[in-house]
Amino acid sequence: MSGGGGMDQLDGLTLPPPGDPVRLADFEALALERLPPGSAAYYSGAANDEVTLRDNTAAFDRWRFVPRVGVDIRGRQTGVEVLGHRWRSPFMVAPMALHQLADPEGEVAVARACAARGLVFCLSTVGSATIEEVAETGAACWFQLYFLDDQGRNRELLDRAAAAGYQAIVLTMDAAILGRRERDIRTGFARPPEVRYANIQRGALRRGDTYGDDEFKLSNTWDDLAWVIGHTRLPVIVKGVLHPADAVQALELGAAAVDVSNHGGRQLDRSIAAIDALAAVVDAVAGRAPVLFDSGIRRGTDVLTALALGARGVMLGRPVLWSLAWGGEAGVGRALDLLAAEVELALGLAGLRSPDEASRDLLARVPG
Ligand SMILES: Cc1cc2nc3c(=O)[nH]c(=O)nc-3n(C[C@H](O)[C@H](O)[C@H](O)COP(=O)(O)O)c2cc1C
Repeated sequence: MSGGGGMDQLDGLTLPPPGDPVRLADFEALALERLPPGSAAYYSGAANDEVTLRDNTAAFDRWRFVPRVGVDIRGRQTGVEVLGHRWRSPFMVAPMALHQLADPEGEVAVARACAARGLVFCLSTVGSATIEEVAETGAACWFQLYFLDDQGRNRELLDRAAAAGYQAIVLTMDAAILGRRERDIRTGFARPPEVRYANIQRGALRRGDTYGDDEFKLSNTWDDLAWVIGHTRLPVIVKGVLHPADAVQALELGAAAVDVSNHGGRQLDRSIAAIDALAAVVDAVAGRAPVLFDSGIRRGTDVLTALALGARGVMLGRPVLWSLAWGGEAGVGRALDLLAAEVELALGLAGLRSPDEASRDLLARVPG
């Protein structure tokens, strides 16, 4: 089928050179060919038996669309408004550790790809580029905080993010202690010394493994959220919510938004697939704040499913790292363009003129 003139909007879906990825999931195998086994395992792996990792994507397959016809979809637009900012597409890049394992330019390359496309980039506390280096790319940035033991250091990170022009703080509340990632154990993964925790590394981290737990507060409480909200003028998004009551609690304490996520299956294995937790959280939040979503987004149709269930926008995770390993900044650009084009195509095929029109009557759940 040719869409004629309409197809020129879908740059990301034009024919790629033979052998190149044609969907986000294709980037994984291509990245794994290039990455050292330890880094490959660190990026792709998850906790224990990886039940939740698999279920995060399988759960999308339990939804079907009931598209509408007869709508004039020419000139449809894909932007959404989140916390007072316009996003060109309804997705952003999720906070993830150590992009420099994939490419020497790391987070800076990804942020540049975001800047060129009007997409938000979220830098992790355990990122391998500094807050300021990422800001210099001109991307709209959010900073993800892992609460550190030392309040002064937390304040310093919050202040640096605000001073560098970041738009928001993401407080991740599902990862104060880490799930047991058995692929990392099998490969004996250790962070190479040339890849640094650019924002938190003081001296040597005592453990040569994924994180330096000695610097992190090994529990996250609602008091910590209240503290963060009290120590920044930026909006605070709570990441890692699955239970509706936690979403309500976060908003009552002053969170600006919540992100429904199970950390890509890397924390409590056999946690509910994130997409299966979304509707109840949206209902509990009842329009008081935007609800974001991540964990398992691989397709434009996944984005549309999350929007229809009530998410305002989603975060893209692992495919960003895989595309970075495959092709650096340009590779990430390919992945982002592909997803943006898939979203636009899915919206049009579903008979929607914008993401705001997605609602639950677009969806039917299949048994199983
Ligand atoms: C290699 C890797 C590192 C991650 N590091 C962080 C992090 O530093 N902070 C955080 O809040 N989430 C982190 N996450 C979780 C992501 O933000 C996101 O929740 C997850 O990747 C979503 O799952 P998906 O990538 O399978 O879609 C990480 C995920 C991966 C795969």
